[in-house]
Amino acid sequence: MILSDDLFHKFAKLIYKKTGLYYEYSKKYYVHKRLEKRAGLLELDDLNEYYLLLKFADDTSEFDKLINELTVNETYFFRDFPQLRNFAEDILPMFVREKGSRKQIKIWSAACSTGEEPYTLSIILQEMLDNPEEWDIEILATDINTDVLQTAKIGLYESRSIKDVPPEYLERYFTRRNEKYLINLNARKHVCFKRINLMDENEMSNINGYDFIFCRNCLIYFDDESRKSVLSSFYESLNPGGFIFLGHSESVGRISSAFKVRRIGDAIVYSRPEC
Ligand SMILES: C[S@@+](CC[C@H](N)C(=O)[O-])C[C@H]1O[C@@H](n2cnc3c(N)ncnc32)[C@H](O)[C@@H]1O
Repeated sequence: MILSDDLFHKFAKLIYKKTGLYYEYSKKYYVHKRLEKRAGLLELDDLNEYYLLLKFADDTSEFDKLINELTVNETYFFRDFPQLRNFAEDILPMFVREKGSRKQIKIWSAACSTGEEPYTLSIILQEMLDNPEEWDIEILATDINTDVLQTAKIGLYESRSIKDVPPEYLERYFTRRNEKYLINLNARKHVCFKRINLMDENEMSNINGYDFIFCRNCLIYFDDESRKSVLSSFYESLNPGGFIFLGHSESVGRISSAFKVRRIGDAIVYSRPEC
C-alpha cells in the first residue's frame, strides 16, 4: 500500500496529538510498515481509508491497536543499575528516616512496558526496607500499550529480561518455568497495572500523592512540547519533596525548571520542592 509524504504527515500529526509520540520523516518506513499491517488485517484497500477510519471512529479501539504496534517496549529487570542503586542506597534510606512512624510509600512506574521496572522497584523495597510487611506499599505501573500490560500481569519472563538480576534475587523472587522465569507473589503483591496515556491530562490529574515517579526511556520518543506537558503533570502527581527519575539520556533540568536539583550520594536528582 502506498503512503504518500502528505498522508504520512497526517498520520504522524494524528498520533502525535493523541500520544505525544513524535515521528519524524526519517521514521516513515517504520510507521508505514505498521500502518500497512493494521490496514491489511482490516482488509482495507488503501491507507487513506485507514486514516479516515482512525480519524472519525466512534471509539479508540483501532487507534489503541495501532499504538500497540508502534511503541518501542524494550526493557529489562534492574535496567540502569547505578540509578537504581542511588535510589536504593541513598534516597530510600533518607526517605525512610524522614517518614518516621508514617510507613507509607507510593511509587509510580509510568511507561512500565512489560513490567520489569515496577517489579524491580518492588524487589528493591522488599530488600531495602527493614520490615517491609509493616509498610503500606503501593506501586502503580502504567503504560499506553495494552499488550505489554497484559504480559506484565502474567509476569513470565525470558532469560534476556532477567540477565541483570543478582543471582540471590533470582532465587528469592522468581520461579523457573522451563526456560522462563515467573515473578513470585512477594514481588507482585504491591504492583497494580493500569492503562494510562501520559498525554491524557484528565487521566493524569487523577494520579496524586506519589513519593517517587519513574518514567524512564519513554520521553525520548516525545518532542519538547509533549515532554514539558508530561513533566508538569508529574509535578502535580508528586508529593512535595517527592522525586522524579527519567532515563539516563533524558534530563529533567533541560525540560523543566520547576523541580529542585539535588546532589544525593553520587547522583544529581530532581524533586518537587517542599513548598
Ligand atoms: C522503552 S519502554 C521503557 C520501559 C521502562 N520504563 C524502562 O525504562 O525499561 C517505553 C514505554 O513507553 C510507553 N509509552 C509511549 N508513549 C506513551 C504514552 N503516551 N503514555 C504512556 N506510555 C507510553 C511505550 O508503550 C513503552 O512501553
